[in-house]
Amino acid sequence: MTYSTLAMSIAESPTLRLNEEARLLRERGAAVIHLGIGEPKNRAPLSAILSAASKLNTGDIKYSPTDGIPSLKKAIIRYTEENYDRLVAPENVIVSAGAKQSIFNILYSILNPQDEVIILAPYWVSYPEIVKMCYGVPIVVRPEDGSFHPRFEEIERVVTSSTKAIILNSPNNPSGIIFSDEFLAKIVDFCERKGIYIIADDIYHKLVFDGKHPTPAYKFSTKDSENTKIIAVNGVAKLYGMTGFRIGWAIAPRKLVQVMTNVQSQVTTCVSPFLQDAAEGALTGLQSIVDQLRLTMQNNRDVMMQELHAFTGIKCVKPQGTFYCLPDFRAYKQDSVALSDFLLKRAYVVTVPGKEFGMEGHLRLSYAGSIKDVTDGIARIKWALDPNSPNEIYIGDKKMIRDWL
Ligand SMILES: Cc1ncc(COP(=O)(O)O)c(C=O)c1O
Repeated sequence: MTYSTLAMSIAESPTLRLNEEARLLRERGAAVIHLGIGEPKNRAPLSAILSAASKLNTGDIKYSPTDGIPSLKKAIIRYTEENYDRLVAPENVIVSAGAKQSIFNILYSILNPQDEVIILAPYWVSYPEIVKMCYGVPIVVRPEDGSFHPRFEEIERVVTSSTKAIILNSPNNPSGIIFSDEFLAKIVDFCERKGIYIIADDIYHKLVFDGKHPTPAYKFSTKDSENTKIIAVNGVAKLYGMTGFRIGWAIAPRKLVQVMTNVQSQVTTCVSPFLQDAAEGALTGLQSIVDQLRLTMQNNRDVMMQELHAFTGIKCVKPQGTFYCLPDFRAYKQDSVALSDFLLKRAYVVTVPGKEFGMEGHLRLSYAGSIKDVTDGIARIKWALDPNSPNEIYIGDKKMIRDWL
């Protein structure tokens, strides 16, 4: 049996693979701590649940318009006006099954084979794979100074006549940093002059800490909604902790939205209408839930930083948003895949190898879980790696003795 060469070249999502490994270990009774998790533990907002339930109660769940139900699009337009200072038309909005599908639709709709897409390391694991699925070529730019903040000059250097788009993700998964206004202004101006698309993945844009108010890339565009090269991507997954509802959207010039709608119509027809109702409920309901989530994550971040500061040899840039950090573990091991595997097998802690995000030698740690997950998780990692830490630890009710250092 043979399979598509392209499909066979697509890597499995490492985060989803780790979720499965953790689940299997738990099934066998291991007290696993999941620091790889990409979702907060909150309940979905009541307004979202009620809205979806009332639609389900009608029993009338049928196909809906491919680009999204009008009332959700209206809520997204209001959201865009409030957060991006832009009044867009319904024809500028397309709802998809998560921001992931939005990004796929965009890339599928703009790329010709061999077109290049610039991806800034550290990057979300799915970007290079989605670019490849759309016959494009991912061009990864790594900050030469070893920081996590991209530098304009380094990006400019890799631009060629084949450059079609650049993906910006700020606040950033996995580093948690926010791109500076100065950088965004420069890159938006450059791309709009050169005709290069900017895909601004703003999925974490309200999960920001210490009173910061990052400016979305869209705000730097001097072009109107039909001529801008910026495509803004957002969704309810992270903002409201509604990952399982699978609702994301893109704001783009209407011609592009039409192309994306055609693509989506041939792939998934539409997004489930009662899940769209849930997203509408979240967007139009009480917004204090977002603040609560943000403050919880900020507190978790602080605990994570405190634990990492007390960890000999570990360096970590303080996240300004999201629920991730990307500490440097090179003092212990260069190979992040081997390190992550070792920590899962020996200490039952799930981490995600930095290599998957284009940052070898690092591990992505999530603080989306509980404070206890953070403190116990780091204590276990310390026990597994640091010879100066006590060589006995309790994992669940099992006393574990370290015999490898
Ligand atoms: C940067 C980034 N973009 C997009 C997504 C996907 O969002 P959704 O669940 O809405 O597809 C994720 C999920 O982890 C993410 O980290």
